Amino acid sequence: MDAATTLVVFGATGDLASRLLLPALGQLLVTEQDRTVRVIGAGIEEWTTDRLAEVVRASFATVDAESALDRVDVEYHRADITKAADLKRLLKGLDGQVALYFAVPPAIAARACEAMTADMLPEGAMLALEKPFGTDEASARALNERLEALVPETQVFRVDHFLGKSTTLNLLGARFANRLLQPLWSADSIESVGIVYDEKLGLEGRAGYYDGAGALVDMIQSHLLQVLAVVAMEQPATIGEADFREATSAVLRATRVWDDDPTTSSWRARYTAGSVDGSDKPSYVDEPDVDPQRGTETLAQATFEVRNARWAGVPFTLRSGKAIGDPAREIVVRFRAVRHVPEGLRGSAEGAVLRLSLGPDRVSLELNLNGADDPLVLERVTLSADLGAGQLLAYAEVLSGILDADPMLSVRGDAAEQCWRIVQPILDAWRADEVPLEEYAAGSTGPPHWPYVG
Ligand code: BG6
Repeated sequence: MDAATTLVVFGATGDLASRLLLPALGQLLVTEQDRTVRVIGAGIEEWTTDRLAEVVRASFATVDAESALDRVDVEYHRADITKAADLKRLLKGLDGQVALYFAVPPAIAARACEAMTADMLPEGAMLALEKPFGTDEASARALNERLEALVPETQVFRVDHFLGKSTTLNLLGARFANRLLQPLWSADSIESVGIVYDEKLGLEGRAGYYDGAGALVDMIQSHLLQVLAVVAMEQPATIGEADFREATSAVLRATRVWDDDPTTSSWRARYTAGSVDGSDKPSYVDEPDVDPQRGTETLAQATFEVRNARWAGVPFTLRSGKAIGDPAREIVVRFRAVRHVPEGLRGSAEGAVLRLSLGPDRVSLELNLNGADDPLVLERVTLSADLGAGQLLAYAEVLSGILDADPMLSVRGDAAEQCWRIVQPILDAWRADEVPLEEYAAGSTGPPHWPYVG
């Protein structure tokens, strides 16, 4: 058996730990049979080790990982991680591979980083932080500077589980291992790209966080811009931390709001009462703890341009909404039509469309072929394949990188700052009310007139 990795979970008593992090750990341990992990949970609650062990057991059960329980050692320590003395006590004497996971709200994570000093940290310690990373470019930079004072960049893991989604990773194979696609992957042949992640879920009791964030920050600023970066990046020399992350950062540096005009390139809306899958949802503003005065959007859409030689002129439209009926979750690549169709070949010859579903994994390609009835009439044919679910949950994929000290699937500091820089003009325009806040009924597909390219 390998030596145990130590996973210190700040905020071990919280929802994130039990709902996402611990199930991910369970799944990882099931797939990696020679891994053992020492979990040191910390929180301000008066919990006992037995209570945390019970939470670990229940979390593992949600992913059928009970068989891995004997490879995890659990301890709980009461600690206020915003206090230097508590941190020191907690981290003292830890050695080997140690990862500190901040499963706490961003304000607490920032305060904990303030209270932490490099000499408290075990040699080579990894720091994993959840989104949102800062609240704007300046605060993200300040947090980055703080982290730089603690550990080298390669030991900082800014978690974005969309980078661990199998569809995002499948893009690498689709793009770089197919001569059929690779030479066509540019503005010369591609007309537009859509990345959409609509959800049936509504607020799910998360007003405390969500009402201050909204769909743009919750999904586009973070997750969907990362997916855009993987769709648009130059081919990296290796699929390794340095090459991959530099390639995605370069895309983000080149990305701007389309036409530099958020009033014509961004849209926002929030849901009113309706029903999703037969269950009634109240209007967003009537959800518990929502402040209607904030004008928080639950559906955001924005079009961007990647201003480089490969992509200039191609709109990338990103969209995500809550309480959507029949939600779409896919990357849609629309190819240009051929320049000329010979006279005599009848029917529409619109460009091919490649769709990569963002779970469950599925790929499809729409092409024009001759129909069976009349061989000179074009018909639209869809070739498709189900790829099955990824082996690991996206969170487990990212956690595996953290425990292996491989930051490839975590967001590099400069990229986190760029993502704020990219959406800032939209946030400013929305705050100034330059873009109307529209409404859509829960369970609908959103405002019908939006120019979504999907
Ligand atoms: C989270 C957002 O980061 O991602 C949620 O905060 C969203 O609002 C979720 O529902 C979507 O990701 P997944 O993988 O759970 O569908």
